Amino acid sequence: MADNLRVAVLISGRGTNLQALIDACAKNDFPAEIVRVISNNEDAFGLKIAQAAGLSTTVINHRGFKNRTSFEETLSADLEEHGTELICLAGFMRLLTSGFVRYWHDRLINIHPSLLPAFKGLNTHRRTIEEGVRVAGCTVHFVRADMDAGPIIAQAAVAVLPDDDESTLASRILAQEHVIFPLALRLIASGRIKVINEIVQIDGELTSPDPLVSPKLN
Ligand code: GRF
Repeated sequence: MADNLRVAVLISGRGTNLQALIDACAKNDFPAEIVRVISNNEDAFGLKIAQAAGLSTTVINHRGFKNRTSFEETLSADLEEHGTELICLAGFMRLLTSGFVRYWHDRLINIHPSLLPAFKGLNTHRRTIEEGVRVAGCTVHFVRADMDAGPIIAQAAVAVLPDDDESTLASRILAQEHVIFPLALRLIASGRIKVINEIVQIDGELTSPDPLVSPKLN
């Protein structure tokens, strides 16, 4: 336990990715532990998930601050008080300033429900379906000042099916988010990741034998 990477998870809502990280950290050989869960929304269901897991939680509501910087100063102070070494944004619905992002450079990761750099921003599943895209997915990446940008750590792809709507596609992708977020955390916590010229290099990576082709025919 002593050498585990100390992770804080920032949330705003239901917390299913938080739950996936909690489950991963509960495994015997997992090299990270969650030391703090912070929500900017006091009604976030994820807070209940964190409390049920016995984690240390707090609410820091951005509405109580005069500007983004003062909100983020309070956030950073709390994160540092808890010895945070890595921040996981797990459905945290606030844009962070370049000052905060620079301060936590390569110590701040995010999960986004698209295959970045495609479909940055909100409503990714609706836009994916509207564009007739056949392969969709999710991405874990280091955070940079631009929205949904930064070195990509892990991605998972799923087929978009002819009868998909926003919600069926979202749930197929969400299941993969719950796979790649813990995977990315494990890679970082075990020291297998380097960022070189803004590209992630992973120690011991194997080449995948399984391309995903969509459509699949009978
Ligand atoms: C996920 O789809 C994640 O990719 C996006 O926000 C959603 C959060 O869901 N950034 P949850 O709160 O983890 O269930």
